[in-house]
Amino acid sequence: MDQRPIGVMDSGLGGLSVVRLMRQRMPHESVIFVGDQGHFPYGTRTQDEVRSFALTIGKFLVRQNIKLMVIACNTATAASLTLLQDKLPVPVIGVIRPGAEAAVSLPYHDRIGVIATESTTKDGAYVRTIKSLSPQTTVVAKATQPLVPIVEHGQTGTPKAQHAVDKELALFKQHPVDGLILGCTHFPFLTKEIMNTLGKSVAIIDPAGETVQLASRILTKHDALAPQDQQGQLTLYSTGTASDLAKGARQWLGDSNLTGEHLALF
Ligand code: DGL
Repeated sequence: MDQRPIGVMDSGLGGLSVVRLMRQRMPHESVIFVGDQGHFPYGTRTQDEVRSFALTIGKFLVRQNIKLMVIACNTATAASLTLLQDKLPVPVIGVIRPGAEAAVSLPYHDRIGVIATESTTKDGAYVRTIKSLSPQTTVVAKATQPLVPIVEHGQTGTPKAQHAVDKELALFKQHPVDGLILGCTHFPFLTKEIMNTLGKSVAIIDPAGETVQLASRILTKHDALAPQDQQGQLTLYSTGTASDLAKGARQWLGDSNLTGEHLALF
């Protein structure tokens, strides 16, 4: 048993799509979330920049006495997972391998699409990981960076959001896929729009599911799950405007009591 919190980070509120599942499936775990809104978006930055932001946040989370860190950001996972695993004294997991594993375990996975930020797409981490797990799978990767600010700025569910999704996913009409990985943690909040565009025959893969399972497996292995009589607490920090993060969290986590705190880390 270990009542210490799990640390979670993203460039913005996308990482809440992972926190949401964590709260559902691991309700006893406390979570400290850092949204690096001060540097949002990560997807158009260099990997060196993202690596240094992620390491600073990781060190902060370690000072908060976390037992595990989840990089709930594909861009930061591609840029910094191995560095953080090397530098931090706690287990660190990312979202890319879990997402790739979920895709290749679909009954049909001959053709898999991946939508992600510019940086993740350029890095090629999804293509490499999927190919290593299933060499015969064809991967259609598309950078859809314009969808990120739509989520971050609360414009989901609007005609503007649907129009942007239609435009960004047009490629998958010419190149149909069996499943589409939401390779940016902001995108699960656009699932409705994405399903409207692609139709029901395309499986939508949110890496959050496998990521939370992996977190649970690691904690179980280390006998570090939270006590069953503990009610998990969520602490929200933003390096930008804390009230924006709290507003998103109240919306996406369905908890009207959530508040956020500004974190002057940089
Ligand atoms: N949510 C992040 C990801 O999963 C990054 C989005 C961004 O800041 O560009 O890649």
